[in-house]
Amino acid sequence: MKTWTSPLPPVNCDQKSGATKVEICPASTESRKIEEKKTHSACSPLRPGSFGRFNLADTLMKVSDLRSILQYVPRFREKIFVVALDGEIAASGNLSNLLLDLAVLRSLSIRIIIVHGCGAQLVQLGKERGVTISNSDGTGITDEATLKLGIEASHEVLQELMQGLSSVDLRAAYANVIVAHPAGILDGVDTLCTGKVERVETTTLQCFLNEGIIPVILPLGFDGEGRTFRVNSDSVALEVAEAMRALKIIYLSTEGTLWVGESIVRQLSVAETEDVLRRKRAVLDPSIVSKLEHASRACRRGIARVHLLDGTENEALLSEIFSHEGIGTMVYSNEYQQMRRALKKDLKGIMALIKESIANAELVKRSRADMLAALDDYWLLEIDRHLAGCVAIHFYPEHEAAELACLYVAKSHEGQGFGRKLMAFAEQLAAKKGAKCLYALSTQAYNFFQQKGGFSEVSPDELPPERRRKWEASGRNSKVMRKATVLSTKPPAPPQSLPQP
Ligand SMILES: CC(C)(COP(=O)(O)OP(=O)(O)OC[C@H]1O[C@@H](n2cnc3c(N)ncnc32)[C@H](O)[C@@H]1OP(=O)(O)O)[C@@H](O)C(=O)NCCC(=O)NCCS
Repeated sequence: MKTWTSPLPPVNCDQKSGATKVEICPASTESRKIEEKKTHSACSPLRPGSFGRFNLADTLMKVSDLRSILQYVPRFREKIFVVALDGEIAASGNLSNLLLDLAVLRSLSIRIIIVHGCGAQLVQLGKERGVTISNSDGTGITDEATLKLGIEASHEVLQELMQGLSSVDLRAAYANVIVAHPAGILDGVDTLCTGKVERVETTTLQCFLNEGIIPVILPLGFDGEGRTFRVNSDSVALEVAEAMRALKIIYLSTEGTLWVGESIVRQLSVAETEDVLRRKRAVLDPSIVSKLEHASRACRRGIARVHLLDGTENEALLSEIFSHEGIGTMVYSNEYQQMRRALKKDLKGIMALIKESIANAELVKRSRADMLAALDDYWLLEIDRHLAGCVAIHFYPEHEAAELACLYVAKSHEGQGFGRKLMAFAEQLAAKKGAKCLYALSTQAYNFFQQKGGFSEVSPDELPPERRRKWEASGRNSKVMRKATVLSTKPPAPPQSLPQP
């Protein structure tokens, strides 16, 4: 497993404890980017007032790191992020750090809307007052006594947030913008004072945002007759994000992210999220289930990305938002990962990408002219619009064969299944275009082709004659690998998933 490579300098992270750990079968994890959770030291350069703790030698940023961060700035300017905090996070010692992160986001002209929960405070109040809580997260039955405590608990959290936001010089206001109606009778049970979001008063929110004020939204809704309902904060975040056409929802909770064994699942497409929910709902923490459900719904309704973060982690927000890899689980709806054909303007980037591998004699040397001549054969793997890998597929139609070449995955993305995805992509494209077999020539990665791609070594004499002559002339003495292509019979994957030639 490779190390975490955020463009930010390392951040202080508490080791995760008590996180939900699930086993997901290897086949389904193949297509996911999974990384081990790492511990880090020191803090981000973006954090105001934190430079005093730097060990300069440990945290010196490369100019390229800064470039990676700055590329996001124009993309996010004036865009809306909905930040949804569970009640537990509002009560945690990390709240002040999170609010500092929000101050950084505001300084970059990102528009923030805060939605918060109050479950932990509600449970605590119930204990203190000797009241049995009928439901704590706004999804079950809310009786009158629970509603009363829920209102108190919500205002307790609101007070915490207002104090904290003032202390980092952020202007904020309570926004009473959730119009709700009773959730009603579900499965024959009257949910009483539990509400469902009917409408979000977007004009009010827009007025706050235009004035540079952060709206803070409670997990309560009101109907036209002034009745109060307890609503679930995850669903409030979703409804607000949709109504306000937010770019992101960021869920901050103590359960945080989705784990597979000892590793965090870093990215999931909507289809993958729904698959996890279908298969693993019973073993996942209910809070994570709720967040994943709302994340996939949000993505289906047009929110580009939803992030699930451990809100107790220092600088979680900045590290997630300003790095390709992130530190939480991201559910994405758009072309976060995509394969596309290379264009002439990409040649410089491809050459820079594979330069080191050519120097190490892993890849054969190619001139710009060579690549331009076969430009249609080159495909790029982009992650978050960042070139992360490439592969070329050369065809020998008269031999019903194709060759996979120039397979490369950027060091920062190695060990996350992209090499296998690119191989699978090449095989599918070759099969689709009528190639019955796929060759790969390699000096150092032949084991990879054999063990991960199902290739077998064959004699160079098996190559199409013109390719055999080039093999000879190169003097590289590459091993020749071959596999029979099989066109996948899987149902069509969503457009962002690989492999899909
Ligand atoms: C080979 C390469 C494409 C693999 O990419 P990747 O994204 O890291 O691959 P994946 O994440 O899909 O697979 C990683 C697995 O392959 C193994 N692997 C990686 N490179 C390997 C190699 N050269 N030989 C054997 N196994 C290798 C890893 O150990 C890992 O094994 P594990 O899953 O059992 O832990 C990448 O390392 C690379 O670009 N190498 C330099 C260029 C090159 O050699 N290209 C091939 C010649 S065309």
